[in-house]
Amino acid sequence: MATLLHIDSSVFPDEASSSRSVTAAFRKTWEEQHLDGTVIYRDLAANPIPHITADAWSAGYATPTQRTPEQSAAFAARETLIEELERADAVLIAAPMYNFSIPSTLKAWLDNVLLLGRTAGETPSAQGTPVVVVASRGGSYAPGTPRESYEFVQNYLQAVLEGTLALDLDFIVPELTHAPRNPSMSELIPRYEASRQRALEEATAKAKELAERVAA
Ligand SMILES: Cc1cc2nc3c(=O)[nH]c(=O)nc-3n(C[C@H](O)[C@H](O)[C@H](O)COP(=O)(O)O)c2cc1C
Repeated sequence: MATLLHIDSSVFPDEASSSRSVTAAFRKTWEEQHLDGTVIYRDLAANPIPHITADAWSAGYATPTQRTPEQSAAFAARETLIEELERADAVLIAAPMYNFSIPSTLKAWLDNVLLLGRTAGETPSAQGTPVVVVASRGGSYAPGTPRESYEFVQNYLQAVLEGTLALDLDFIVPELTHAPRNPSMSELIPRYEASRQRALEEATAKAKELAERVAA
């Protein structure tokens, strides 16, 4: 039975969030293909996970018998998050752009799950697991745009998810989401609408493709 790890991180709820709309479309299709599957869901905006602490970090490099009681307690929460990643047959992450980078709640998740010698290093434990990232943003940072060099979501997540955790990474990028709200962007509304439609279609197509790949 297939397991999907689904992580949302937008501060906006439901349809008010572009990334949540797209992850919901992905998940709906995925669940239709895996009626008896499991979805592990984390809403990092509603239920933020604790930032990494010195005890939680150092416990990762000590054997269970070497750990102090404080390290053991701090590591327990990390262990849960790491196991969720390791159990997943596929991962779906919403990564809205906040000040050119990812939400701090998503960074806190990464700081917890990235553990050299286990999820990272020579043989990363989730190596090859497909991950789809929905990288929504209010503007456009596409190649050739004036703000291209301010893009630190895809660049960063590529380094961490692909380069470090060795996941099989794919992006969906709904862009220009501020066009309907910002009068100075009104001429970009058609491009926003096209991007949103494309993102929803990509979510459905990728969910189907991954559901088949995982079932095979
Ligand atoms: C705190 C914050 C910072 C943001 N910073 C940026 C930014 O640097 N660049 C940008 O294009 N949009 C920025 N936005 C707009 C979001 O990227 C946009 O609302 C996008 O749709 C977020 O995905 P969501 O709709 O799933 O929340 C920011 C939004 C918030 C709440």
